[in-house]
Amino acid sequence: MKLIAESPYMEPAPASAARGNALGPFPPERIPKNPVLSGASFGARPGAAAPCVLDAGEVRYVNRGCMAIGLALAHAGVGAGDEVLLPAYHCISMVEPVIWRRARPVFFRIREDTSIDLDDLGARISARSRALLAPHYFGFPQDMPALRAFCDARGLLLIEDCAHAFFGAVAGKPVGAWGDYAVASVWKFFPVFDGGVLASSRRKLEGLGLRGGGAWFQAKALVNTLEMAFEYRRLGFARALLAAPLRLKDHALRGARRGAAAGAPPEVALSCALGGWGFDPQRLATRMSLSARAITRFASRTRIVQARRDNYERLLEGLRGAPGCRPLFPSLPAQVVPQVFPLLVDAPEPAFSALKRAGVPIIRFGEYLWEGMDRSTCPVAEDLSRRVFQFPCHQELLSAELDWMIERVREALLPRVQSVPRPRVPAN
Ligand SMILES: Cc1ncc(COP(=O)(O)O)c(C=O)c1O
Repeated sequence: MKLIAESPYMEPAPASAARGNALGPFPPERIPKNPVLSGASFGARPGAAAPCVLDAGEVRYVNRGCMAIGLALAHAGVGAGDEVLLPAYHCISMVEPVIWRRARPVFFRIREDTSIDLDDLGARISARSRALLAPHYFGFPQDMPALRAFCDARGLLLIEDCAHAFFGAVAGKPVGAWGDYAVASVWKFFPVFDGGVLASSRRKLEGLGLRGGGAWFQAKALVNTLEMAFEYRRLGFARALLAAPLRLKDHALRGARRGAAAGAPPEVALSCALGGWGFDPQRLATRMSLSARAITRFASRTRIVQARRDNYERLLEGLRGAPGCRPLFPSLPAQVVPQVFPLLVDAPEPAFSALKRAGVPIIRFGEYLWEGMDRSTCPVAEDLSRRVFQFPCHQELLSAELDWMIERVREALLPRVQSVPRPRVPAN
């Protein structure tokens, strides 16, 4: 973390972020926010495999998506004095790798449909601009031919951010194939603890110095994957079998923590999703764990694609006509495999806490925007970061869990009964 702290552009991450949410504390989530391992994870479904970022070119499995951004910038030689163009609608872990490179983040506007505003982007280019990070928000792709042409005309590197779009295609090419580099986040799509992808259709990914994590990291990745599954009542047989050893492990860890207040080695730090926070240069060279690689290799991709699309349609249907909201993307184009179901809510504040209190695994992308960004840069980003709620639509959700979530959302959005002052009874 030393390198980050030294950067002139660094702003501290909000302390509340590591605890989940500034409005907290909230009870644990009742259903899984991200895919958890189950017997069904490997069950094949008929149908052709969808294109994905692994088809984009050369591929390296890394620790997380944000590490892949850092590796892409380092590989391309982006460094001190350079500017990297980032969307004003972002999460902190997209900015931290830029800071680590001692480059300057320059934020640009997006439109209400989350597409990149090319006019605004063009106006922010300077002689120091080196790279553009372009995310396919929630799995819905940007206009990549236009962005490719834009970058080519200005000699900019294009980093295609597929953290929300592991699967899909744009204008006849797999996601990730348009960028000079592509980055992806494996744990958002597969039932694994860790994992990111760095891919390139244009460059040889050599000299990255990647190495496997140690035995402690491998064990932790596997145990965490299983524990996440057990927490949500999956893998019942394995749960019964491993209950006693896992209790022993918890007991031993509690003892070890008491003994070593300094905590675990950095390579086992938790991912954002599990309560950790952000980019960590010390894990930059760590490859994705062996268990995550095995699961990614053998999990049914046709199932992931179809189940996510089916669940998205179900959420569209279940929330049709719900008051005070509308889906950010009211239809699901053929080549899109959604990461989540984004819902645009008119009055976010009472509904957000009500849903958190009910244990609904809700995410608000951009809830914490980079503190160094001028907040007037993009009113749309400011608005979306408060009003777009994302609900899981991943392949491991059970039908009853989806129904439960839809019910809770409808309940939370019901117009609140206003306390109207009673008319005074006139005295005689
Ligand atoms: C758009 C986007 N890009 C990159 C990242 C970083 O991915 P990871 O969490 O795997 O580090 C995230 C994380 O949520 C993200 O939402």
